[in-house]
Amino acid sequence: MDAHAAAADPSVADLIAARPHLAMHPFDGLVLEDVPLNAIADALGTPVWVYGAGTIRARLAALTAALAGVGAQVHYAVKANDHLAVLRLMAQGGAGADVVSAGELARARRAGIPPDCIVFSGVGKTVAEIAAALSEGIAQINIESAAELDMVAAVAARLDRVAKVALRINPDVDAGTHAKITTGRAENKFGIACAEAAALYARAAALPGVAPVGIALHIGSQILSLAPYRAAYARAAELVRTLRAAGHSVRRVDCGGGIGIGYRDEPGAAPDAFAGTLRQAFAGLEVELMVEPGRWLVGPAGLLLASVVLSKGGERFVVLDAAMNDLVRPAMYDAWHAIVPLAAARAAGAVAAVDVVGPVCESGDTFARARALPRLAAGDRVAILDAGAYGAVMSSTYNARPLAPIALVDGGNWAVVRARQDVHDLWRGESVPEFLDRPDR
Ligand SMILES: Cc1ncc(COP(=O)(O)O)c(C=O)c1O
Repeated sequence: MDAHAAAADPSVADLIAARPHLAMHPFDGLVLEDVPLNAIADALGTPVWVYGAGTIRARLAALTAALAGVGAQVHYAVKANDHLAVLRLMAQGGAGADVVSAGELARARRAGIPPDCIVFSGVGKTVAEIAAALSEGIAQINIESAAELDMVAAVAARLDRVAKVALRINPDVDAGTHAKITTGRAENKFGIACAEAAALYARAAALPGVAPVGIALHIGSQILSLAPYRAAYARAAELVRTLRAAGHSVRRVDCGGGIGIGYRDEPGAAPDAFAGTLRQAFAGLEVELMVEPGRWLVGPAGLLLASVVLSKGGERFVVLDAAMNDLVRPAMYDAWHAIVPLAAARAAGAVAAVDVVGPVCESGDTFARARALPRLAAGDRVAILDAGAYGAVMSSTYNARPLAPIALVDGGNWAVVRARQDVHDLWRGESVPEFLDRPDR
């Protein structure tokens, strides 16, 4: 046990106090919006994901209001949480979508996001995906390479369409985030080097079937400092001036996403401060601004409920029924997620440092190491907080564990929005070829 790590961890009371959508009720236990989470766990079992619709609405409204001052449009990054109900909330709140696959495009359309509010990002769009985007008539395709520009022009010519494109530049700025989610350094696979952008923009302007509307950039995810944004946007503004000086029309700058949230006790990025950075960077340029936030909108609105299966190793390890196949962020990004008991009496108990792990056969299946937590016994339930972004979307069925269900809370109501997978779902679509069982093999 690591007493230092334990002492430094925020208390359960502090974690809840920092999250206005959560409350600890003396009898009902942990409550999301107005729904006791025990009621959902009683009905659906654990592990189960729960999203708060009111929280998503409030966050979208707050970000939209802050950005309205600079005329920036929100295009929600679907990859953060692509559930249809989440996308419907985005559509109702006036957000467009940033998609990175034909599947995400189909989800966004199915949820009611209009095609002219959709942009398509990603380094490896296939011909079929480009054709789907052009057939839908989406607002913009973000071009990530010269080769992709040629592909888009060819598909547009074949379909007799004009592709509105933005060139995604790589500003070579360190976003100061985890290596696996930084995207704006020269060594990252994303975007076009600034030095090559002007020539490629000129080529795009000359190509039939392609209409360049501006530039795009996205430097990474979970960014908590404004400094990397300032540096990247300064490069984008400089490029806009260079392109215009060369006679090109540059209507739009898509500023990407990445706005960070507080997972532990660090303050999340403030929408007003982010909007101020946009205002400063693009002052006087008269460009339409677009942003692609994902995590900031949905991260705090989701949690994963789990039950303690047992403790072992002299109570050092608390084994949950949720695992890395459900929430991979701790294993993949060393992410810190708050863990809170559902019962008020447990939450108020004395703390000890424990490792909270899942049952999957990997040492990386660890949600928390040496975490100061109230004592937990078999059958106790916990909520893993801030799991609304890059949570259920990244789940797998590793170890043949069926996908957990999802419930959506809205004020005092809740509904199941994805049923728990059944074991039969695990082999749906699989077959054992008949020749394997032939006696003459
Ligand atoms: C192109 C693009 N836009 C937006 C996002 C959303 O990032 P975040 O969820 O950190 O806001 C991502 C994710 O990394 C992305 O790749």
